[in-house]
Amino acid sequence: MAVEATAPGKMILFGEHSVVYKGPAVVLAIDRRAKVVADKRDDKRIYIDAEDLGFSGYFEEDIYYPVTGKAWRGRNLAALNIAAKKTMGHLGVDSGLSLMVRSMIPIAVGLGSSAAVCVATVAAVSELFEGGLTREKVSELSFEGEKVIHGMPSGVDNNVATFGGVMRYERGAGFERFKLEKVPHFVIGNTRRKRSTRMMVEGVKELRDRNTSVVDAIIDAISAVSKDGFDALMKGDGPRTGELMNINHGLLSALGVSTSELDTLVYAARREGALGAKLTGAGGGGCMIALVEEACLGVVEKTIRRYRGQSIRVDPTDEGVVARRL
Ligand code: PMV
Repeated sequence: MAVEATAPGKMILFGEHSVVYKGPAVVLAIDRRAKVVADKRDDKRIYIDAEDLGFSGYFEEDIYYPVTGKAWRGRNLAALNIAAKKTMGHLGVDSGLSLMVRSMIPIAVGLGSSAAVCVATVAAVSELFEGGLTREKVSELSFEGEKVIHGMPSGVDNNVATFGGVMRYERGAGFERFKLEKVPHFVIGNTRRKRSTRMMVEGVKELRDRNTSVVDAIIDAISAVSKDGFDALMKGDGPRTGELMNINHGLLSALGVSTSELDTLVYAARREGALGAKLTGAGGGGCMIALVEEACLGVVEKTIRRYRGQSIRVDPTDEGVVARRL
């Protein structure tokens, strides 16, 4: 009997880039999810169908054989192969698998799609073999897959995709999870420009190498914004949260990670009444987010589309990974 698992994407509300040096970052699970349907196969292949992304193929002895799409797409799917194999290894089983991947989270724009897919894969495979893994273990095994794509990620994405809710993350101190009393509404504006987190982080490091005291002052300021922003969010204080998002955007611009496309969407959203708007994630493309009261959601979405962004209405969610038998 096949198993379906889903896991949420994420958005960074405060503290991207500064968190590499000094925390905290505030990250929210969003109600856009990735889905993986897993079933056993009689052979030893791990077959992955990602047809809505335009490719599918299988792994045999960790080598990728495309069925549709180009061979290099195996790079995108290698994380799932590793996550699935590590999960089976942990459970002491050895089987072929078929994994069908469907996602409502745009890829490579900072919304945590790869982590959501990895987490859903681990949860689906675990349930398929009645593994009964704890959520901590699901997160840990999915991190093994994530490392294949991202090198050394912070671990925020797989945590938030596993547990849902609001995550406050600080290097050294780790993760703390919170629930929101009052759920605010957001509109994401996707510039559709893909970018590499690693390159953006490297760019900030180089800027800091050349201008250490200036960049450190900006990082300190973002860290203060992030702490106050977290408090405002938890109190349900929309105007204050929005104001701090605006400050955070200005400071990220100062670090050189915004783009004219992101700025256009940020200012357009503010003009239409958003309480606050900022880029989210590594910048250099990808997405911005706007905190928007119910009455303004329609006009903010419209203006984002007018300036050629993809608009995605999202609410934060407490629901982390969920698996069920089909
Ligand atoms: O765009 P994303 O979701 O990959 O976010 C990266 C967040 C950074 O702070 C820029 C990097 C990091 O590892 O924390």
